[in-house]
Amino acid sequence: MKILVTGGAGFIGSHTCVELLESGFEVVAIDNFENSSPVSIDRIKQIAEKDLRFYRGDVRDRTLLERIFTEHEIDAVIHFAGLKAVGESCRMPIAYYDNNIGGTLALVETMQKFGCKRIIFSSSATVYGEPKKLPVDESCPTGNVTNPYGATKYFQERILSDLQASDPSWTVVLLRYFNPVGAHPSGLLGEDPKGIPNNLTPYIAKVACGKLKEIHVFGNDYPTPDGTGVRDYIHVVDLARGHVAALRHCRKPGRYVYNLGTGTGYSVLQVIKAFERACGRKLNYVIDPRREGDVATIYADPGKANRELFWRAEHNLDDMCRTLWNYYRNNPNGT
Ligand code: NAD
Ligand code: UFG
Repeated sequence: MKILVTGGAGFIGSHTCVELLESGFEVVAIDNFENSSPVSIDRIKQIAEKDLRFYRGDVRDRTLLERIFTEHEIDAVIHFAGLKAVGESCRMPIAYYDNNIGGTLALVETMQKFGCKRIIFSSSATVYGEPKKLPVDESCPTGNVTNPYGATKYFQERILSDLQASDPSWTVVLLRYFNPVGAHPSGLLGEDPKGIPNNLTPYIAKVACGKLKEIHVFGNDYPTPDGTGVRDYIHVVDLARGHVAALRHCRKPGRYVYNLGTGTGYSVLQVIKAFERACGRKLNYVIDPRREGDVATIYADPGKANRELFWRAEHNLDDMCRTLWNYYRNNPNGT
């Protein structure tokens, strides 16, 4: 099978390309390097010891998409390309709607034109907003989102679901990721955000490298065991394998929705402690006020994915911190 991976140079996309190649799929990838670098494409090939066809360009560029679909018989698309920073989406909402919604529309229109009707979409736990019950399962209400990025994910889910309802020959898989972290065990691929990281684990890694002075813990007065926010961190390699599982098991036309998480929540302070074990030294942190829009606790019920996709997250928090630290040590200036 030949799979088109949009955003294939990015954090989750690059790890997924590796898993696809290692599982025997052919891969065609597209990325505009807005938040990644060409080095990751070379690294994918190096790890998998296989080639992939890469197109540099924008997923909103219909001419380029048509060229790709003309040059390749694509069996399914995994759609990662998009913008993902919550804070930035509040400052630049139109750029987020344009990229995320515009990219998805251009992609599905082109797919339809070429008769390719199978898509796996990168959704997010953010679509659940403040959870009404824990753990969160796929039947929990969605749409009560707190920022433009979350709105784009919710609308993208709606667009794909409406498309599938209008034409039941489509296969639409919505994968709701919890908090993807860690890096490839080879140390060649990882998360390398430009500028000051928004997310917790890359921030901790930069403090451990000495590039940032101290970790800022956003609030210690949440109703959680130690007062800091609790999340379901999932190793990026497990997450990438979830896409391979979805390709294998969501074959019949229909609409499928799965949470991809571990089912276990860890607090910010527990993550800092785990990273200290990985890097072998104490890390400085300060307690700051809560960050606007954050929920206290969210973690997944991954049971549906476990049962139906025969998939389960295998790595624990120590594995996530160890591989992330290994990546930062090997790539002090990023990839
Ligand atoms: P990332 O930024 O590392 O990867 C996205 C890739 O898409 C980047 O390589 C970027 O250059 C590319 N891109 C962006 N806009 C593009 C466009 N218009 N055309 C072509 N390429 C474009 O992010 P990631 O963490 O790998 O996330 C991948 C997907 O998963 C995103 O859709 C994101 O919203 C979703 N997601 C991520 C998280 C997370 O915490 N990382 C959680 C839930 C969902
Ligand atoms: N946090 C800190 N300090 C930091 C960064 C984060 O204390 O410097 C805390 C947050 O308050 C939160 C936890 O660490 O309690 C995790 O925060 P992240 O920013 O790493 O992740 P979020 O849970 O806020 O959001 C992430 C992605 C979203 C995605 C969501 C659910 O950034 O895109 O997971 O999948 F939607």
